[in-house]
Amino acid sequence: MASASQAQTADLQIRKLHPALGAEVRGVDFNRPLPETTVTAIKQAWADHLVLVFPDQHVTDEQHVAVTRYFGEPEVFHQDIIKSKRVREIFRVANTDDDGKIMPPSHPTMRQLSGAQKWHTDSSYRERPAVGSLLHGIEVSRTGGITCFTNMYAVYEALPERLKAKVQGRRARHDFGMLSRELGARQPTEAERKAMPAVWQPMVRIHPVTGRKSLFISPTYNDAVEGMDDTEAVALIRDLTEFAERKQFVYEHRWETDDILMWDNRCTMHYVTPYDPTERRVMHRTTIAGDAEVMAA
Ligand SMILES: [Fe+2]
Repeated sequence: MASASQAQTADLQIRKLHPALGAEVRGVDFNRPLPETTVTAIKQAWADHLVLVFPDQHVTDEQHVAVTRYFGEPEVFHQDIIKSKRVREIFRVANTDDDGKIMPPSHPTMRQLSGAQKWHTDSSYRERPAVGSLLHGIEVSRTGGITCFTNMYAVYEALPERLKAKVQGRRARHDFGMLSRELGARQPTEAERKAMPAVWQPMVRIHPVTGRKSLFISPTYNDAVEGMDDTEAVALIRDLTEFAERKQFVYEHRWETDDILMWDNRCTMHYVTPYDPTERRVMHRTTIAGDAEVMAA
């Protein structure tokens, strides 16, 4: 007899992409409203695989936002740059401006986006960091632009005792201001700074759905570790990052046009590999807003 979970996933075809994380999901069409059974099956697959790849999803920005709402409230980015002028919930991970013109790497927006070339989780600098993100590949890169994901449950479980002891019960600081300090991105305005003060987050967290423990760092935004001086803090974040980026934990996604990727920010990190800045790369992201503070393990 089929189990309940088999019955729910009967109309989805799920193919694992890497032993650590990532699965391709077919049998879903984001152009149409999703039946509740499909939403439930996607949530289950998401909890199991952490990163889901939905190929051939030719959707408008409005449909992209509508799909996001099945999984939570879309976050609206706190700065006017990067955010789409047309659909406010869309965050433009693109090297073209709203008029479609390529921006040079020296452009402040491109400097800010270059923060994504370092391991991070989206919105980790918020008091309630994002639950997940959905990224739609509209014009995909062939010269790089590969998005890499690491499974932070597996990283935590495999951490050497020396590192585990250092992160247990400890907090790291996450500061959006790191982008302007480290990368020369546009300085936040006074109002933006006030709206996004640095936050201390536990370095080991519990996932509210699965109950599993994972390592929680976000090297793009981490600027301090509790009880450590700067040298020690930088060394710890570096050691943890080097461990987390081992091949055994990492799925590398090579984009096809109209892939939609949906990842869980509560148990993964990601970064994008560099690409030729003269090649157009247009990706639209929605972010599922955090619904709770991070649960310390
Ligand atoms: Fe990101």
